[in-house]
Amino acid sequence: MSATKQPSLSSVADIQALLQADLTATNQLILQELESDVALINQLGFYIVNSGGKRLRPLLVLLCANALNYSGEAHHKLAAVIEFIHTATLLHDDVVDASDLRRGKETANALFGNEASVLTGDFLYSRAFQMMVNVASMPVMDLLADTTNLIAEGEVLQLMNCNDPDISEQDYYEVIRRKTAILFAAACELGAIVSQQDQMREALRDYGMNLGMAFQVVDDMLDYVSSAEEMGKNVGDDLAEGKPTLPLMHALKHGTEEQKETIRHAIKEGDASQLQMILTTIQETNAIEYCTAQAKVFTDRALAAISGLEESSHKSALQLLANLALARKS
Ligand code: IPE
Ligand code: IPE
Ligand code: MG
Ligand code: MG
Repeated sequence: MSATKQPSLSSVADIQALLQADLTATNQLILQELESDVALINQLGFYIVNSGGKRLRPLLVLLCANALNYSGEAHHKLAAVIEFIHTATLLHDDVVDASDLRRGKETANALFGNEASVLTGDFLYSRAFQMMVNVASMPVMDLLADTTNLIAEGEVLQLMNCNDPDISEQDYYEVIRRKTAILFAAACELGAIVSQQDQMREALRDYGMNLGMAFQVVDDMLDYVSSAEEMGKNVGDDLAEGKPTLPLMHALKHGTEEQKETIRHAIKEGDASQLQMILTTIQETNAIEYCTAQAKVFTDRALAAISGLEESSHKSALQLLANLALARKS
């Protein structure tokens, strides 16, 4: 008898098709758990949850659980919990970053105001905790309590680094590890916890952490080279915030004296008026090539972390996601 042929995967849509039933169940839970008898929470909550996010983190929970042959249903709830935490951080992040475009639409803060956004973000965080308590697993609660705490630290660390042109790449990596990679890592580790395969926790966590690092490096790169149409967020937002991200730090290190001075000023003042000149510097110093190479170091580590995972279409999907993270445009 010939071995069952696995479907070949080449896009996120293929991965979504592979997980269609799980994703539908997760989405139903997300909508159901959003319910509140406070009208504004419903309105703002549905707006952000239906605004076209990629649902990448729930996808990771589901893929990791499936890769370990999990056969229950708790992974749907955990996938929804992870998306709620992610959504809460976005609501808060867009207020802090004064962003007015996300997912190609007006941000919740632009539409409903900062107050409503922050408070609905709190609602989503606490709803996520209600849902995870319902799963009744101490290792899950332990992991997610630590995860949300580290994300908050990451965002505050980033705030402290803003307007400082002298922060190091190591400082930058520490910020993105906490603010972004930790949640990717937790999403993957949950797959192992829910499957009761403790021996796989570290490998999957390692995969998620490195994927998350690559994802944020690429995100910071797109902030300089993409377009609002493609990315669904405004180009130059990071510069206007005075955020020393990797492409800018590389340009600052390798530009001419005049270019360095312009970038130092832009970071210190959060002044995006010289965006065009800074984009030229980014090009001339090969900052994008540099960031791509750094992101690839992380995706290679992510791939290495899961090399011991049993072969399956879900493992192939995890490998594909690592490769797609480098090529993504939004
Ligand atoms: C945005 O994450 C925040 C970052 C970590 C860069 P995503 O790009 O996954 O956001 P959505 O949910 O798909 O909009
Ligand atoms: C995203 O940070 C990380 C969190 C939301 C915790 P960014 O500020 O870089 O993300 P975007 O560009 O607004 O999506
Ligand atoms: Mg932001
Ligand atoms: Mg960004």
